[in-house]
Amino acid sequence: MLKVFRCWICGETYLGEEAPSDCPYCGADRTLLKPAEEYEYPDVDLSDKEKENFKKALELEVDNATFYYCANNKAENPKDEGMFKRLAKVEAEHAEAICMFLDREEPAINKKSEVCSHHLPDNLESAHQREQRAIEHYRKFAKEADHSRVKEFFEAIVEIETDHLELHEKEIDNLESPEQ
Ligand SMILES: [Fe+2]
Ligand SMILES: [Fe+2]
Repeated sequence: MLKVFRCWICGETYLGEEAPSDCPYCGADRTLLKPAEEYEYPDVDLSDKEKENFKKALELEVDNATFYYCANNKAENPKDEGMFKRLAKVEAEHAEAICMFLDREEPAINKKSEVCSHHLPDNLESAHQREQRAIEHYRKFAKEADHSRVKEFFEAIVEIETDHLELHEKEIDNLESPEQ
């Protein structure tokens, strides 16, 4: 029997018999996928600091989504291609979610940029640095939040970007000492 779940972080709806292990759109933990009827829009009267932080976060997300689309285009096999495409979409979803708080339209994301390298190891290294940079900012933004909904958002995003960071670490390790 299908149930309707709605993600507390990105607001997307998931249809399934059970909640998946993570939100398939933004990557938030399953505990943040709630029955759709419990969902509330993030209608928060942001402080100036929160506004400033969301604007910076939006910049970071758009920048990282653009980078991942580039890495997706340069990938040389379906696995890497798929991984980067998924990451691009997750970061684009984060950008969209931030726009709900800022009550503005989503910015267009350039899917054909040349901001990345042709070489997978360089792209993994760069991806790692980008996630690290995002995590540092979002930890700070969570601390600076006045509203619980804002704090929750940045804490969830820290978790998600940390999962990405670990994925890149694993991929870098595999390049250096391939298993199998
Ligand atoms: Fe989500
Ligand atoms: Fe993100």
